[in-house]
Amino acid sequence: MIPAIRGTHDILPGEIEKWQLVERVARALCERYGYVEIRTPIIEREELFAKGTGETTDIVQKEMYAFTDKGGERVTLRPEATPSLVRAYVEHSLEQTLPATKIFTLGPMFRYERPQKGRYRQFHQFDVEVFGMNDPAVDAEVIDLAWSLIQALQIAQSELVLNSVGCANCRPRFQEALLAALGEDLPRLCQDCQRRAKTNPLRIYDCKVEADQPIIDRLPHSVDYLCEPCATHFAAVRAHLDGWGIPWKLSHRLVRGLDYYTRTTFEILGQTLGAQNALLGGGRYDGLVKDLGGPDRTGIGFAAGMERLVLALPEGVGVEPAPRAFVVGIGDDGRSEALKLLRELRQAGVAAQMEFEARGIRAQMKRADRLAARVTLIVGGDELARGDVTLRDMRTGEQQSIARGEVVPATARLLSGT
Ligand code: HAM
Repeated sequence: MIPAIRGTHDILPGEIEKWQLVERVARALCERYGYVEIRTPIIEREELFAKGTGETTDIVQKEMYAFTDKGGERVTLRPEATPSLVRAYVEHSLEQTLPATKIFTLGPMFRYERPQKGRYRQFHQFDVEVFGMNDPAVDAEVIDLAWSLIQALQIAQSELVLNSVGCANCRPRFQEALLAALGEDLPRLCQDCQRRAKTNPLRIYDCKVEADQPIIDRLPHSVDYLCEPCATHFAAVRAHLDGWGIPWKLSHRLVRGLDYYTRTTFEILGQTLGAQNALLGGGRYDGLVKDLGGPDRTGIGFAAGMERLVLALPEGVGVEPAPRAFVVGIGDDGRSEALKLLRELRQAGVAAQMEFEARGIRAQMKRADRLAARVTLIVGGDELARGDVTLRDMRTGEQQSIARGEVVPATARLLSGT
């Protein structure tokens, strides 16, 4: 046996129903909020992420599945969707064809991380992006979409955390204050933090090393260093959320692990995931489109980890099997009539199964039970003689004879609960 690669996984029947549920809910919400789907390649040029996600990020420095292809080009499996969606927006001049560009995508991403519960090397994101809209109401709408997704999936005890990391004008002042506050404590921080202090000081807030925490807790907060436009923007985002009754908490440490963020950043945290507790995360990125060669357009979005949403679903959600009919044929004539009925049921939109090998009624009924069929339709010699079919309700055990011509609509009615 050649096993699957570490950190990747098969999604099997029994679990796939949960994935389908999450995808259905996500798509339905996007439709309601006016987002259209696009799909981009899984493989891209390495430089798209070096430039987009950022040279100093862990993703680019340590986690990319990057390699030289047979033509000598540096390519990578995508570690996130945002730079790909920005590339597609620029490459196809989407702002011409979709002036209010609100897009979403669903698909696999790849990061060479240490696998654990909720963290994989191939994982899937549901990703939403908005381009060219600056109003704080757009930030609030994106956050509302994220919150509504979690609510619609009935994921309890989740928490929305919010921060603002400022813009190119006010961030340098905050970084200076940060480094000044670190002062003599800097050499006492971990090696990673010492590196971060040089390359991207904000990333120090991401540090998980226990011994560093008392020092990091004393550091200044980005919201106290926002310039006037950034402060006004952030106040308006919070006011919109309050107006809608969406609960949020300010988190000073929410700087997020990617380079492109400006102003609003947010995450929704779950309770059941242990260390990997971010169900989704996102924020505004007002310089990225231009940095990737496009027009000067703002952007905002988020991505949810599909595996984490599936893990956080409440017990029993998405596992209800589709209502199914099972057709039992007895004897050669019964079986050939049963095959006809099977096809009629399927043509009428009813999920129906049948045992194809000639077997006795008991074996067939057993199989109907195993498949959790909701109704069984029995066609034997007696039924053929009478011109009817025996319908057995598998929940109550009740049986009734139904005229052959009536059996398909009667089954469909019973399965739809009327
Ligand atoms: P991110 O925080 O790196 O942001 O990832 C978003 C979500 O993807 C996380 O909250 C988590 O649920 C899931 N995720 C990330 N890495 C893994 C992993 N190794 N295994 C399982 N799930 C994972 C982004 O990717 C940004 N592109 C989000 C964004 C969109 N910002 C603006 N627009």
